[in-house]
Amino acid sequence: MQYGTFDDAAREYVITRPDTPRSWSNYLGSTEYGAIITNNAGGYSFYKSAAQGRFLRVRFNNVPVDQPGRTIYLRDAESGDFWSAAWQPVGKPLDEYKSECRHGTAYTVITSEYSGIRSETTYFVPLGHAMEVWRVKLTNTGKTPRRLGAFTYVEYANNWSSVNDLVNLQYSQFIATMGVEDGIIDHGTNVHIPADPDNFENADQGRHSFLALVGAPIAGYDTDRTAFLGPYGTYAKPHILETGRCTNSLAAGDNVCGVLQAEVTLAPGETKEFVVLMGVGRAGAEGKAAAKEFGNPARVEEELAKLKAYWHGRLEGLTATTPDPAFNSMLAMWGPFNCLITYAWSRAASLIYAGERDGLGYRDTVQDMLGVMHAIPSEALKRLELMLTGQLSTGGCMPVVKQFAHRPGHESVPPDTELRSDDGMWLFLTVPAYIKESGDFAFLKKVLPYADKGEASVLGHLRRAIEFNLERCGAHGLPCGLSADWNDCIRLGAKGETVMVAFQLRFALKTYAEICALIGEAGEKAWADAALARFDPLLEASAWDGEWYLRGFGDDGIKYGSAEQKEGRIFLNTQTWAVLSGHATGARAGQAMASVEKHLATDHGVMLCTPPFVETSMKVMRAVLFVPGMKENGSIFTHTQGWAVIAETMLGHGSKAYRYYRASMPAAWNDRAETREIEPYVYCQFTNAPMSPRAGASRVPWLSGSAAWAYVAGTQYVLGIRADWQGLVVDPCIPAAWKGFSATRRFRGKTVKIDVQNPNGVEKGVKSLTLNGEVLPGNVIPADKLKDENAVVVVMG
Ligand code: GLC
Repeated sequence: MQYGTFDDAAREYVITRPDTPRSWSNYLGSTEYGAIITNNAGGYSFYKSAAQGRFLRVRFNNVPVDQPGRTIYLRDAESGDFWSAAWQPVGKPLDEYKSECRHGTAYTVITSEYSGIRSETTYFVPLGHAMEVWRVKLTNTGKTPRRLGAFTYVEYANNWSSVNDLVNLQYSQFIATMGVEDGIIDHGTNVHIPADPDNFENADQGRHSFLALVGAPIAGYDTDRTAFLGPYGTYAKPHILETGRCTNSLAAGDNVCGVLQAEVTLAPGETKEFVVLMGVGRAGAEGKAAAKEFGNPARVEEELAKLKAYWHGRLEGLTATTPDPAFNSMLAMWGPFNCLITYAWSRAASLIYAGERDGLGYRDTVQDMLGVMHAIPSEALKRLELMLTGQLSTGGCMPVVKQFAHRPGHESVPPDTELRSDDGMWLFLTVPAYIKESGDFAFLKKVLPYADKGEASVLGHLRRAIEFNLERCGAHGLPCGLSADWNDCIRLGAKGETVMVAFQLRFALKTYAEICALIGEAGEKAWADAALARFDPLLEASAWDGEWYLRGFGDDGIKYGSAEQKEGRIFLNTQTWAVLSGHATGARAGQAMASVEKHLATDHGVMLCTPPFVETSMKVMRAVLFVPGMKENGSIFTHTQGWAVIAETMLGHGSKAYRYYRASMPAAWNDRAETREIEPYVYCQFTNAPMSPRAGASRVPWLSGSAAWAYVAGTQYVLGIRADWQGLVVDPCIPAAWKGFSATRRFRGKTVKIDVQNPNGVEKGVKSLTLNGEVLPGNVIPADKLKDENAVVVVMG
């Protein structure tokens, strides 16, 4: 079943049926002012932090999940009939009510048609403003004049700390003070104590937000939730919509809302427009200024155009057209947009991440940067530096770096048992990714503090990350798992060993040696080479199970991910990372990946492990917490799909790699959206495996490591366009049936147009590469040969 279509030219997804299986959301704003909006105008808004700066309420796990939100009720003054400018919350029958939602680049447009009235509401956050704009256009499509009431409804959080607002009611229900100044609502909380706007840990501070409506006469307001909804009213049937007139309630304490009632008269065929402005600050100051600035429709249009140009620019680091329209839709907008949003909000703000996860999880954040490096290398650099200062002088990393409270050099060192064995290993992807993108080798010499004490160059930070794991190895000489490796549900502790991190450590040593060779650090290179020479035989001696690689060893010697076991006999990650790390090559690599296909591949992608855990003790294998086939207990964990794709491309298997890629590609499920249930334009944390009663249903959309890895796998390994130390590599690995593709890549300030031809239907291999008419050897385009605009022709064969 299909609920919408991709409009690649406009960079929008167009939802034509509002009754989607779940709320399908989009992100507005920036890290200054963020907002989540769904196809039915649900969602919430927050200032800087979804946890500590949330001023628009959402009750997580509510029914429906996205309400309340940003509602505009419309009411016919003659008949008293009322509806909402998005299908929900009133929910008129769909044979009478038509609606369309266009989710675009940080804006959403929702149109409705009902009883001869067309509404079009555009929601966005103007660049650089801590405020959102809802532009509402109403058209009378009928033959008689109409008199309408338009009512906004937003429900405020009392305390901007999301947890206090929802849980600590004996406190938070008695702190709101509502006011109205020049028709602008002032939502005040804790108003008699000072503001402390940059201290996000401080829930007790005076705060204000405003709500204004410009462009139509205001007939009244309500700020008391009960006055508006009625004690037994609902969002679908508020008391005031039945009476038709606001009561001008000024609430103090209890629950507070923002209702502004406007009167709109429309002659047949006439369109009128008004603007709702909601933002951070006082009604009398920021509110009045906003109303003055945005009272003018041309100003709104100008800001919307600026916003689109800004986001389209961020998406144009790479554009490509392939023979697969679904892949094209992901490439045009949703793949990179998903990466940029995940980079911006980490795991802090969605309809699932309720705001309790503030701060930047180490491993997730360092990986998220991989998906945006080509697009915004200098922004990513700042984040990378922050994360390097989240590394401890022991080489381990703080599990979470709190961007507002982090104090490099002053953080306390958590015990080893609370650290993750993989956190520092991700730096060996992201630091090279930044240098390859920018050519900024000097970054390696930049001195940055450790989180607790001391400082080192970036190269020194990398060495310390390696030493952390080398210094914590177990009985087989492999790194200890500590509180978790990549898998949060594998707790191997201070003695048990992780084969996954062993492969990551191998990758780190190889990468470190490569970097040191490039910058002439011969002594360091020799150190890494020697460690690698000792390490590979240890891996070979202990990690191979016969047909695949083990997942780890418990401190009691239990082999996890072995054919000896009844549950969790084979895991995906150690097969893919064996290949990614360069440890498994040739027939061995082929055998490991063949075992993946045989035991783990499904129509939706490759399962994390199988069979799922039911009887295994949860001392180490905490996946047993979850329903079999969900999450770490054997689901199709989307994050890991990219590694399977990359591993297959490294083996030259273009058709198989693309089959895996497409299996978890959201757009490929657009015409079967009822199976996946979530947005067909974004990645998610996992898809239920076939043994789950919810097979195919996908969960935790938007914020997940899968966005970055899917993007990296698709663009850098399937299309094969990736930055390298000295230039841009073009090394496609595509389905044999593809006759070619074209792409445009921004690289070190230059534009490179690439035309790939595959006349003989091969899956991998570059026969010739021509740059601006000059035939070059190999498949690397040297950066120093690039002009401002370049034409590259690659012939595969
Ligand atoms: C979640 C976590 C991520 C972890 C993964 C596997 O996606 O955010 O850090 O690696 O689960 O447990």
